[in-house]
Amino acid sequence: MKFRSSLVVLASLVSAALSATVADVIADTRNISTQVTNLDNAANAFPNTGGSLVAALAIHTDVMNLRSAFDKGTTDIISASPKPFSEADGTTLLDIVEGFEPILLDALKVLIAKKPAFQALPISGIPTLIKQDLINLNASANTFENQLIASLPPDLVAAAEAIKTDLGTIFVNAIAAYQ
Ligand SMILES: *[C@@H]1O[C@H](CO)[C@@H](O)[C@H](O)[C@H]1NC(C)=O
Ligand SMILES: *[C@@H]1O[C@H](CO)[C@@H](O)[C@H](O)[C@H]1NC(C)=O
Repeated sequence: MKFRSSLVVLASLVSAALSATVADVIADTRNISTQVTNLDNAANAFPNTGGSLVAALAIHTDVMNLRSAFDKGTTDIISASPKPFSEADGTTLLDIVEGFEPILLDALKVLIAKKPAFQALPISGIPTLIKQDLINLNASANTFENQLIASLPPDLVAAAEAIKTDLGTIFVNAIAAYQ
């Protein structure tokens, strides 16, 4: 009996260690914002002519980092409890997302505009790489948004849905530009 109850204690300790808190989700979402800014800065810094392969590959790395940040946020939202998040935490999360939304929109617009600069690189595969990056980034961002929407208090859902719609539109345009 004693042995059994210590197993129960152990099991609950393990599950406490594995499950995320809303504070983790807030930290993850701040990190998404940081990675969005990194990507936007790199995309803007890429010149319209004479860009380097190294700089193009750095943009690819920034996209992968941003995807990982979205995926980490998704994992933590799924395991976080209790849900829905409180009004205060939900508002904090929505504010962070509203803060990075225009920066992500800008990054994608700049990537659309700079397709000719990537096509002009001496190695031909970069536009294809960026297209795949955009497809994967859309999937990671979309999954994060869906999990966030499912975890917010009801009165914040419409604002989060609106952000998802805006981002969805720019992803359609960006992926179409790289077809
Ligand atoms: C932020 O995300 C990047 C890319 O996934 C990761 O390498 C880094 O460890 C994260 N930083 C924090 C503070 O979570
Ligand atoms: C973005 O991802 C979502 C979810 O996977 C998908 O429904 C949508 O069609 C994707 N958008 C594009 C332009 O591929």
